[in-house]
Amino acid sequence: MDETARLEVDGKTYELPIVTGTENERAVDISNLRGETGLITLDPAYKNTGSCRSAITFIDGDEGILRHRGYAIEDLADKTSFLEVAFLLINGELPSADQLEWWRQSIRYHTMLHEDLKRLFGAFPKDAHPMAVSSSVIAALSTFYPRDLDPHEPIEVANSVLRLIAKFPTVVAYAYKHSLGQPFLYPDNSLRYVHNFLRLMFGTPCEPFEVDPVVADAIDTLLVLHADHEQNCSTSTVRLVGSSHVNIFGAISAAINALWGSRHGGANQEVIEMLEAIANEGLTARQFVDRAKDRDDTSRLMGFGHRVYRNYDPRAKVIKKKAEDVLNKLGVTSKLLEIAMELEQIALDDDYFVSRRLFPNVDFYSGVIYKALGIPVNSFTVMFAMGRLPGWIAHWVELHKDRQAIGRPRQIYVGPQARPVPPLDQR
Ligand code: SDX
Repeated sequence: MDETARLEVDGKTYELPIVTGTENERAVDISNLRGETGLITLDPAYKNTGSCRSAITFIDGDEGILRHRGYAIEDLADKTSFLEVAFLLINGELPSADQLEWWRQSIRYHTMLHEDLKRLFGAFPKDAHPMAVSSSVIAALSTFYPRDLDPHEPIEVANSVLRLIAKFPTVVAYAYKHSLGQPFLYPDNSLRYVHNFLRLMFGTPCEPFEVDPVVADAIDTLLVLHADHEQNCSTSTVRLVGSSHVNIFGAISAAINALWGSRHGGANQEVIEMLEAIANEGLTARQFVDRAKDRDDTSRLMGFGHRVYRNYDPRAKVIKKKAEDVLNKLGVTSKLLEIAMELEQIALDDDYFVSRRLFPNVDFYSGVIYKALGIPVNSFTVMFAMGRLPGWIAHWVELHKDRQAIGRPRQIYVGPQARPVPPLDQR
């Protein structure tokens, strides 16, 4: 007999089914609540509300567990490349050697941007934020592929998925090149995904560009670590916007803007700006932590805290180790890394953070690596978007496979009751 939850309202008892997932998470299914009781639920910010069933990613926030299609993030970061993880998220299984070769080749084939689309970059100011540029260009891609926009035509979806994954690094690089006033390079199909990106970002037509394998490997791992994170703000955006049956480019453009927020992906840029402010103002880590705890001070310890993790974000652990490795290999020291580690040590011993179960999240250390790798600070968040792209795509595909209805939450109205419009001379 299926489990149920019992709800008693106005002297009537209702049995609501309890749904159990493959990792034994349980939910009260309220799909029929309003029809049966006339009631809705109220849950601002959806802290207690599941929006869907999904088979893509599992997080245990108490234990600090993150798995994609059953594979632990630590294992994936150690043993697979970003394109393998992208294939896994979207298709449900890791690719075979032949499938991976096909996937790599297909993506390589789509890395160029239409020559007319390249002119769009020139319309932006030099200091335009790369998240604004990338969300605009990604939305504009829909105008160049009008025959591949139907969310229910598999071949059209497949073409658009390849174009998004292939062209996103080109878009990021061209946004950066535009900010410098430097020419755009054409992609080089003889290079692997991240190597091609780094050449587009930092190469010039004047001389050959050698990609540092240490840098390429670190970027690839960072992309793996950002690839998906179940129903976070930007992924929930993809699902809600996607449920209107807009094309995938429109849904991904919306997600880029959700990720831009300082509480979400924008935090990685804010972390570096926080660390630089501490260094430049000569603050001690202790002084800053005290400011972050002070309700009257707007400072927050950026890169700390998480809606789901009430333990150490497993991605932060891998990134912290990678930061130390990469800096050692590059032979550079980082004052910012030292400050970050000091902040972490103080915060993890401080009751304010311990009692609120605030730990470092994915953004706390990622900026330190990006900076050491030469990525410009205002491109940190668009690097997060490049990593999260296959996760957004996987959820968009899953949403349409499940034929989910259009997302349309209800509300509790607290405004004025019915009243007549007063004539202008009486207002
Ligand atoms: C990402 O959802 C995802 O999975 C996101 C993500 C992904 O991969 O998609 O993991 C990526 O967005 C990581 C989070 C990056 N953001 C930051 O690092 C910004 C700093 N962190 C916070 O703003 C905050 O922790 C959130 C937004 C991440 C989570 O916010 P919640 O769950 O709504 O928690 P809250 O804001 O209600 O905070 C609870 C308490 C509050 O204090 P009290 O009201 O109890 O007194 O903790 C405090 C907050 O003031 N608090 C912090 C803090 N984070 C929370 N105090 C100081 N510094 C912080 N960083």
